[in-house]
Amino acid sequence: MSVRSLFARADEVLAQRYPFVLPVLGYDTKAVEPAIDAQTMTIHHDRHHAAYVTNLNKALDALPDLHQYTLGELLMGMRKWPTAAQAAIRNNGGGHANHALYWGLLAPGSTSSTAPSGQLGEMVARDFTTVEACKAALKAAGLAQFGSGWAWLVKTATSRLVVRGLPNQDSPLLEGELPIVGLDVWEHAYYLKYQNRRADYLDAVLARINWDVASAQLKR
Ligand SMILES: [Fe+2]
Repeated sequence: MSVRSLFARADEVLAQRYPFVLPVLGYDTKAVEPAIDAQTMTIHHDRHHAAYVTNLNKALDALPDLHQYTLGELLMGMRKWPTAAQAAIRNNGGGHANHALYWGLLAPGSTSSTAPSGQLGEMVARDFTTVEACKAALKAAGLAQFGSGWAWLVKTATSRLVVRGLPNQDSPLLEGELPIVGLDVWEHAYYLKYQNRRADYLDAVLARINWDVASAQLKR
C-alpha cells in the first residue's frame, strides 16, 4: 500500500484518481486520546482504511475506462458505472472518502473542539438553533443506526443542514449531498475501548470535533 505524505484532507482524497492512495493521518496515533485510543486509531487507519483503498484499486484494475475519474466523480456519478463496479465504488470508494473526512474532523492534541464559524455557524443556528442541538441530533442518528454505518451532518441540494444515518460506507455524495460531519459508528471505530457503549464513544468524539474542518467542507 502506497502512502502519500498527505494530511488526510477530504477534498484532496476526493480529487484522487486510480490508483488511489492512503493519506497519512497527519497527527500522532495518540493525539486524540482519550476519546480515541492509539491502538484503535492505528488499526482503523492502517488496516481498515487501507483495506478500502486496496480493494477499490483491485476492483478498478480491470476497469480502465474508469481511471480518468476522480473519487468524487465516481461517487457522485454512481448510476453511470457498470453494475460490476457499483458495489466496489459504493463500499470501498465510500470507505476511502468517508475515512479521509473523519480523520480531519478529529481535533488532535490538547486543543479542544472549535465551534462552527462563518457560513456553517449561520446554517447551524438557522437549522438547529444551537450547536448542542446539532450534536444531539448527530448522537441520536449514531445510536439509531442499526449495524454498521455513519451518522452524517450534510448540506442538502436545497442548502439545508440535515442529520442522517446512512448504512455501511454509503457516502452522502451518492445522493448529491455534501458531507459536513461524519461519525463512524462501525464497531471497528470504538469497540476496543468502548465495547458496546456506542453512546460514550459518540459523546467523546462529538467533544473533539474540529469544526474548522467541518466549516471548510462548505467551501468545496
Ligand atoms: Fe471506519
